[in-house]
Amino acid sequence: MLHIEEHANLEPFNTFGVKATARARVECDDERELAAFIAGHALPPGETLVLGGGSNVLFTGDYPGVIIHPAMKGIEVIDQDETTTLVHAGAGERWDDVARATVERGLWGLENLSGIPGNAGATPVQNIGAYGVEVGERVARVEAIERGSGERVVVQGAACRFDYRDSIFKREWRDRLVITRVTYRLSRVPLPRLEYAGTRQAVERLGEPSPARVREAILQLRAGKLPDVERLPNAGSFFKNPEVERRVADRLAAAFPGMPAYPAGDGRVKLSGGWLIEQSGWKGRALGNAAVDERQALVLVNRGGATGEAIARLANEVKKAVFTRFGVWLEPEVCII
Ligand code: EPU
Repeated sequence: MLHIEEHANLEPFNTFGVKATARARVECDDERELAAFIAGHALPPGETLVLGGGSNVLFTGDYPGVIIHPAMKGIEVIDQDETTTLVHAGAGERWDDVARATVERGLWGLENLSGIPGNAGATPVQNIGAYGVEVGERVARVEAIERGSGERVVVQGAACRFDYRDSIFKREWRDRLVITRVTYRLSRVPLPRLEYAGTRQAVERLGEPSPARVREAILQLRAGKLPDVERLPNAGSFFKNPEVERRVADRLAAAFPGMPAYPAGDGRVKLSGGWLIEQSGWKGRALGNAAVDERQALVLVNRGGATGEAIARLANEVKKAVFTRFGVWLEPEVCII
């Protein structure tokens, strides 16, 4: 079914809960219908936006174009051999329903990514990651509709060019595709990934590692750290953890002993954005109803009625403060529209 809503209210469709409207919102749970719609309408790239669960966007005003909302459903095993199972999920499935369904089948691969808000279709775009795992490691292929022609295409995992919170869908192919389904390659043999700080201890408190125990431990870790979107609207980490050259990191480490830093490959070093923000004095601080979270400074929250513009203003102040103190620019992870 394809449903078109004109002058659409976007407040229920962004987890920041900010008020905004779009010229129209097109929701569709059938790829053939959506492909036909796209083929029949010339939708200029700058005037269409694909929106999944709305957990990674900030609307700073009304959107003048058309929102496409893929709502394809289904979580199915489509193939398996002795070691591997392929699970196919509709773009409109809630991501955590996909993670839970695979864990319940005893499959390894998505358990560390439990509890992340948003829909399955957005997972390869953003290459969601948490607790030492990125979804890109598990994406076998992505099905999509080409926005220019309405043609259906399949992109193999290796062609997605995954990087830290990044993929080809955000770079070279930005605004080119509407993702409709994703196939995840999961392991039937144990593959616990417990190296991220605190993860092993949290799992071992529950017993021998299993997908279900890892999931439970991750959900506990997240609940202890991240604000609940239902109670305190937010979009997860607002900023990426910044990567800098080693000599910059060394200079900072000498000036700020105790600064967390992790090797990021290519001679680069990843710093902890939350730490930088906290040390800049912004953790828990607010501008009106837009605030930096009190426990996890990478997260900005809407304490009630904040506008998208106000949240963007706060983000700018935080960025400036971190730059002034450390000479490091934070880059948003959230898409600012
Ligand atoms: N830290 C602080 N103060 C803070 C927050 C963090 O000092 O307010 C320091 C601590 O030293 C801590 C370190 O930063 O040891 C790392 O913190 P945490 O484990 O919370 O992870 P993060 O790097 O801040 C990233 C992801 C999260 C993901 C967690 C766990 C990004 C942008 N964020 O945060 O992802 O859940 O790791 O893997 O990479 C998201 O993308 O929306 C998200 C929530």
